[in-house]
Amino acid sequence: APMAPFDLIIFGGTGDLALRKLLPALFHRYVDGQIVAGTRIFGLARDAQSDEAYRGRVREALQQVLLEDPRAPAALDAFLGLLHYRRLDLSAEAGWAELAAELADEARARVFYLAVGPALFGSVGERLRAAGLAGANTRVVVEKPIGHDLASAVAINDALGQVFDERQIYRIDHYLGKETVQNLIALRFGNALFEPLWKAEHIDHVQITVAETVGLERRAGYYDGSGALRDMVQNHLLQLLCLVAMEPPASLAADAIRDEKLKVLRALRPIENGSAAQLTVRGQYRAGAVEGRPVPGYLEELGRNDSRTETFVALKAEVRNWRWSGVPFYLRTGKRLAERMSEIVVNFRRVPHSIFDGLGDSAALAPNQLVIRLQPDEGVKLWLMNKVPGPGGLRLRRVPMDLSFAETFGGRQPEAYERLLMDVVRGNPMLFMRRDEVEAAWAWIDPIRAAWEKSGDAPKPYTAGSWGPSAAVALIERDGRTWHEDAG
Ligand code: BG6
Repeated sequence: APMAPFDLIIFGGTGDLALRKLLPALFHRYVDGQIVAGTRIFGLARDAQSDEAYRGRVREALQQVLLEDPRAPAALDAFLGLLHYRRLDLSAEAGWAELAAELADEARARVFYLAVGPALFGSVGERLRAAGLAGANTRVVVEKPIGHDLASAVAINDALGQVFDERQIYRIDHYLGKETVQNLIALRFGNALFEPLWKAEHIDHVQITVAETVGLERRAGYYDGSGALRDMVQNHLLQLLCLVAMEPPASLAADAIRDEKLKVLRALRPIENGSAAQLTVRGQYRAGAVEGRPVPGYLEELGRNDSRTETFVALKAEVRNWRWSGVPFYLRTGKRLAERMSEIVVNFRRVPHSIFDGLGDSAALAPNQLVIRLQPDEGVKLWLMNKVPGPGGLRLRRVPMDLSFAETFGGRQPEAYERLLMDVVRGNPMLFMRRDEVEAAWAWIDPIRAAWEKSGDAPKPYTAGSWGPSAAVALIERDGRTWHEDAG
């Protein structure tokens, strides 16, 4: 449905996030009729630049949308007309009063997107308050990294909390905006079928994989100081784990869901010095080939040979509560892996008694598996045992009930930012992280890092284009299990 006109102000309006993600997402929403005339989108940055020059740059950034949606070309000029460029040096006094004058309309939603480093969140907040722009109709959006450990996250959250109420702060984890991730909530709580089985009694273990083929891209500065544990596990993978493991919330109210996720984070068994070597594996890629193309190793890409930053993590987590006692959650993520593929695999237990014994191998009962494919080829597969048709006796085979999003629903899968940005305007924080969640996640991550540092071990090398270090395979095979491979 169309939204009432709003003001969106992007600090970092000429940056990568704005041009690659935010503005294309807004354009999609405009083409769909959700953003109406009268809405204003301000890009703010330090350089002098006219509205026209800025619109020209944005026009370039929207080329992909023009190809994706046949309605887009006709809408382009009108959308660009909603855009304005304002010069603002975030560290200077000047310019804030003018901004406040432009944004004086108290009746409309006013969203500040802080697409700038977290070191600036506090001072930008202060300036907004001083300019009278932090009132009740204001919302602020912040992106990761929200800190690099618990202490720094607390400092960032404190700085934001000085100026804004928690309900005004929208912390983005863009994985929560992905269609398939929201579908997890639909699957679990919109069907009577899964929830009764969703527990240790019936589930053997869960796997969560977020595999990427990209390397450092152009973010060496950030990534080398971060590494896969902080960049992916602290946020995206733990959020996925929470959605799989949480208790049924009483409603879709934002805090109902966030309360349940928080309980999961707090129930994670700590991984510390004593256990980190058994429960975690970190890796760093060496030169290899990804999708048939030779690629350099991490250190070559970085241009330094002394970095111990991990580009791969696998770990075995456990949620210590009645529902999940004894059920491992195996997580893995890495760059320069064999393919871009993210999925959640719920592995059920074997049948308690097989009546097919003695029928030979072809009758071997494989446990049921629910595979939720997040990307690409979004969909859900439920693997079941079936009889192979024919008169030759009872032969069984594992086959999938297969739901492909593209085939079933057709059309384009909206980008995560489309949903998330509109939720901010609408004032719905359900898919955003609350302060305590971010901090609980760091509280679990910090001891892992500390244990790695204490051990002094270097990350294990793996060849670009593989599935990570062999130790990651050993991590799960030690327990008599294997990483899921798509069997078609
Ligand atoms: C970001 C990480 O949060 O997520 C990147 O900082 C990563 O390192 C990206 O590449 C992955 O997102 P997606 O949507 O491409 O799976």
